[in-house]
Amino acid sequence: MNPEESKYVTEIIHPEDEAAFARVAKALGDGEVVGMPTETVYGLGANALNPHAVARIFVAKGRPLDNPLIVHVASKESILPLVAEITPIAKVLMDAFMPGPITLVMKKSALIPDVVSCGLDTVGIRFPIHPVARKLIEQSGVPVAAPSANLSGSPSPTKASHVYHDMHEKIPYIVDGGDCNVGLESTVVDVTKSWPQILRPGYVTMPMIENALQEKGFTKPVDYQDTKEDKGSAPRAPGMKYRHYAPHALVTIVNDADEADAFLRYNEALRTVFSENNDAVVGMFCGEEVKQNLEKDLPEDMKAKTIFYCYGDGRDNRAASHALFDGLRSLDEAHVTHILAAGFAKKGLGLAYMNRLQKAAGDTGKEEKVPALSIKRVLFLCTGNTCRSPLAVASFSAMARKNEPFSEKNNPQMPVRLDVSSAGISAAFGDPAASHSIQIAKDRYGIDLSMHRSRTVNDYIMEQSDLVLSVSDGHSDILRRQYPEYKAKIFSFAQYLAKNGISDVNGNIPDPYGKGLSEYMRTADALDEIFAKIYPFILEDLQIFGYIM
Ligand code: TXA
Ligand code: MG
Repeated sequence: MNPEESKYVTEIIHPEDEAAFARVAKALGDGEVVGMPTETVYGLGANALNPHAVARIFVAKGRPLDNPLIVHVASKESILPLVAEITPIAKVLMDAFMPGPITLVMKKSALIPDVVSCGLDTVGIRFPIHPVARKLIEQSGVPVAAPSANLSGSPSPTKASHVYHDMHEKIPYIVDGGDCNVGLESTVVDVTKSWPQILRPGYVTMPMIENALQEKGFTKPVDYQDTKEDKGSAPRAPGMKYRHYAPHALVTIVNDADEADAFLRYNEALRTVFSENNDAVVGMFCGEEVKQNLEKDLPEDMKAKTIFYCYGDGRDNRAASHALFDGLRSLDEAHVTHILAAGFAKKGLGLAYMNRLQKAAGDTGKEEKVPALSIKRVLFLCTGNTCRSPLAVASFSAMARKNEPFSEKNNPQMPVRLDVSSAGISAAFGDPAASHSIQIAKDRYGIDLSMHRSRTVNDYIMEQSDLVLSVSDGHSDILRRQYPEYKAKIFSFAQYLAKNGISDVNGNIPDPYGKGLSEYMRTADALDEIFAKIYPFILEDLQIFGYIM
């Protein structure tokens, strides 16, 4: 697909705007892909009965084709034609938990296209309780297939802005229904047998499910075999085998965040990160009291390199679950190198929370094989890291996102996260990008630089980067002298153009610092022209290719 052809101007619709809402509901029924709120996370919805529409979901997400989608409905009656059978336990769970944050896996009917079920003879059915989701499904007039609306591998979206971040230009509409209440995806339960089996933990827990069944006189059949669950290799939702929820930073779980003295554990973990990595910037996903204690206790230099995202009371697992994906995304935007995140006891909601957090941390546990995710890092370098290099990030990211997601060239199964960032040779720590850079990034590239904070390049950043491109020869000379061991990956734009035999473009980027908007525009023009030429060579050097080319 030509990237230009696949490009949408993504519109964010508010449900109160009834005319716009009706237009989106109709488009959904007619085969467009729409970002929609639910009480768990935002979904990427398409008409479940239209295989072409559903196929577009996989393209927009970069989702593996063997991972089935959940079908969303707006009433219990509309489930009937979609399934071949409603078992007695399915009936009880429908009555007890629908509408709500649960997905029931049932034998599918012939109405469900293969692209939805990915060849399985079952289909996951979900009846969300979110009023906007219900209204949208109802008005579209069709069942809606929807996975979470993130790029495959990224944290799930719990705000419309997260969906916009991952999906803009890939889908025509996002319906903004505010923050998702639960914040973790639905509990997926196989109800095809005589007793339910949880395939993905969520807000609705096994004790809640057993309770509902017992109330209706159901008891676990004595001869029921908890299929392999005890042996630790339960058949899982196919999607659980993939790398998930991964922010760019390294995630470490700080266990027992629900204990009164949790602060001590964070303190120790934080000091360990700093003692092992001079250049670490640490994001803390923790409770308020942990932040207050640490701010009293930490030396100034460490405090300056610690960024807090507080979810509320440290012991409140509900609040932590609600905030988890936003926390991971926000700390990523702040360019932290490490994240220390609250760990809870694995019971009740803690089971679902820890399931997601462990995946984010790349902690595979013992029974799951999660293919690693490869991260490729491109670094742009200027002097103060407020004007040119942030603009380069915006210009390049806008180009790259049309091809997202990426895979390794020599190993197409291996998903690649392309991390594009910037630094300065002598930058202050923590300055925002120049206002003109922010404006151009937004208007021209649809990229939000408002969270950008300047930083000086250091050994850690250099070591992590796969390719370092600077705005002038002077900059690359300094870098090569300062970091001779990384010489091979350091170029100025001019040098990179020359290395790849491109001679019809000027590689020097004019410095707009302190000048007006038009000067910044010229800088952006120069960057665009250069990237148009060197983009394929960058992918080649990183040994990656885009899913959508
Ligand atoms: O809360 C949610 O469930 C959200 C919102 C948007 O509804 N949706 C969601 O979808 O999380 P997704 O596609 O990101 O995750 C669905 C999970 C995957 O792990 C998938 O493998 C599993 O459910 N699944 C879907 N259909 C299945 C089936 N027939 N059998 C077993 N697992 C299934
Ligand atoms: Mg998902």
